[in-house]
Amino acid sequence: MAIRLGDVAPDFTAQTTDGTIRFHEWIGNGWCVLFSHPKDFTPVCTTELGYMARIKPEFDERGVKVIGLSVDSVEDHVRWSRDIAETQGTAPNYPMIGDPERKVAELYDMIHPNALDSLTVRTVYVIGPDKKVKLTLTYPASTGRNFDEILRAIDSLQLTARHQVATPVNWQRGDDCIIVPALSDADAKAKFPGGWETKKPYLRIVRQPS
Ligand code: BEZ
Repeated sequence: MAIRLGDVAPDFTAQTTDGTIRFHEWIGNGWCVLFSHPKDFTPVCTTELGYMARIKPEFDERGVKVIGLSVDSVEDHVRWSRDIAETQGTAPNYPMIGDPERKVAELYDMIHPNALDSLTVRTVYVIGPDKKVKLTLTYPASTGRNFDEILRAIDSLQLTARHQVATPVNWQRGDDCIIVPALSDADAKAKFPGGWETKKPYLRIVRQPS
């Protein structure tokens, strides 16, 4: 069954390049990005995993653990990591789940047979400290993802989890935000004492809360 926003991310135990992990225990009290790629030793995946390794410090800074998955073995992941280091300049510095029996892939509905026969498509699950799914993405095999966009979305998710704001189109960390419609002007006065600009009663622009 499809996993929807707000669902508890299914727990599992799996072999990874960092040893056996119990998923929820491994996430701990922070955030997590679980992403699947179709196949080891393939070109688009090689670029994606190398780039993810390069920007991993950005995820660390935000308290987000990163973990990859494909329906290949841990041994293949280890062999392929050397190619990723050689061609992309960075080897994966996050665990990769070996899932040759497709147990996790099926649990997370990562195999879309009408798009890609028996391999995982490119999915992303952002999971919060409460173990609930906060964001999902699904890309086809031929389209590499924009991992900077995942960071940007995490900035929004973490901000909007703490403050009663939403983030507008193309928002980036530090940009102005929108006061959520559910908050009355009277309540907003207490939350945002610096004030805000009312463009329409439903469109109130406020500086990003810190
Ligand atoms: C790739 O990563 O390049 C790829 C993987 C599976 C199917 C097609 C492309």
